[in-house]
Amino acid sequence: MLNICFFGTGYVGLVSGTCFAEMDHNVICCDIDQGKIDALNSGVIPIYEPGLTELVQKNIKNKRLKFILASKVNLSNIDLCVIAVGTPNTSDGHTDLSYVNSAVEIIKEQRHDQLTVMVKSTVPLGTCKDISQILNENFSNKIDVVSNPEFLREGSAVNDFLCPERIVLGFFEDSTKKKLEILYQPLANKCPIIYTDCATSELIKYASNAFLSAKVAFINEMAHICEKIGADIKTVSHGMGLDSRIGNKFLAVGPGFGGSCFPKDIQALKNLTNNLHSNNKLISSIEESNNAWKLAIATNINKYANQHNIKSVTFWGVTYKANTDDVRSSAVIDIISYLLERNIEVTCYDPQGLENLKQIFKDKINYEKDLNNSAVNSGLIIVTTEWEEFSKVDYRRIKNSAAKTIFDLRNIINKQAAIDAGYKIYELGQQIAE
Ligand code: UGA
Repeated sequence: MLNICFFGTGYVGLVSGTCFAEMDHNVICCDIDQGKIDALNSGVIPIYEPGLTELVQKNIKNKRLKFILASKVNLSNIDLCVIAVGTPNTSDGHTDLSYVNSAVEIIKEQRHDQLTVMVKSTVPLGTCKDISQILNENFSNKIDVVSNPEFLREGSAVNDFLCPERIVLGFFEDSTKKKLEILYQPLANKCPIIYTDCATSELIKYASNAFLSAKVAFINEMAHICEKIGADIKTVSHGMGLDSRIGNKFLAVGPGFGGSCFPKDIQALKNLTNNLHSNNKLISSIEESNNAWKLAIATNINKYANQHNIKSVTFWGVTYKANTDDVRSSAVIDIISYLLERNIEVTCYDPQGLENLKQIFKDKINYEKDLNNSAVNSGLIIVTTEWEEFSKVDYRRIKNSAAKTIFDLRNIINKQAAIDAGYKIYELGQQIAE
């Protein structure tokens, strides 16, 4: 059992800190926001993540998990500091490491020989080496820095952490491995553990996210071809996915990938390859492909609205994917902005994401909490997030005077039920009738 101190209580910090407590370690999580700390200590968590509240409350109760202000942290009994703070992009597309640097500063002030530092934030390649240099400058006894990227997905983060497909650990000193074995001992028989150097570990994270986002962009481009030639994208995905070399995951069409990770990470990888003057074409085209896809969808919606004299549309789903309240870089934001610029009125319904969307669009759009009332005045319903409830809609209860067309951007609705209720349906990968 280790004494662990987490810096950062965002998605990665909160989920992994809580899960390490669940694995019998003693965990302190610190943050710079007193309000957040107070809420967390009373078991109230600031994000919607299935299963997390119960686990936080359980581990607070059995005293394995607590939250404190970063300025009050005492590292004298700590074996492992985990940096899990945000690494947002700056306006010019570079990674902002200021939160990482603040955590490193606190650790350096209180460093002692038994301490190991682990980096879970997604950081530019070479950052662990830089942190090691800062922490060990002018000291003969080195403390090691470990790169341990997270692969958890929002919406299934707790399960992803406790039942991982792999654990990746990069480090500089051989002696560190023993501590890492203790840390991950409860998961040791569940998945392969890769012990490697920090640069390799950092690149595994970026390469994985870039590859997955390329897969999504690829299937969306296939949907575009399907539109043109009359092929069926669902069957194309299925047919491709049966090849075990391709695999059937991440081949679902959608309005374009979003979230706080893929867009940011492919930008970071693109910057890196530019800095290395390497002749990579593929990595830089992922973002372009995703942007072009979102624009094509927005253009099609606008065109359809103009052709049918539709002045008002409704979005079902605003989060970048289901089972989260996160709207960061959600494709819906770009599509809504495009339509607002063309004076189309927008109403949104989402089971979890409306409050976060309000921070972006304020009073420029309408927010409706009841699905059945969300399309009263709209000429078009656009399904953008794959929430399960959208596949089970009782169309007889949807009140509307005009909305008899649905654009299904996730290809998930019960088509027959909608058709029976008099709706015209367009799925992604299907040509939109003039
Ligand atoms: C992603 C990775 O999947 C995690 O492994 C990683 O740990 C995480 O980023 C991170 O770096 O922190 P996440 O952003 O939670 O996780 O979301 P994903 O489930 O990967 O979905 C990303 C985007 O791709 C979403 O907009 C989703 O709708 C879209 N997507 C995904 C599709 O359009 N089609 C698919 O088949 C799959």
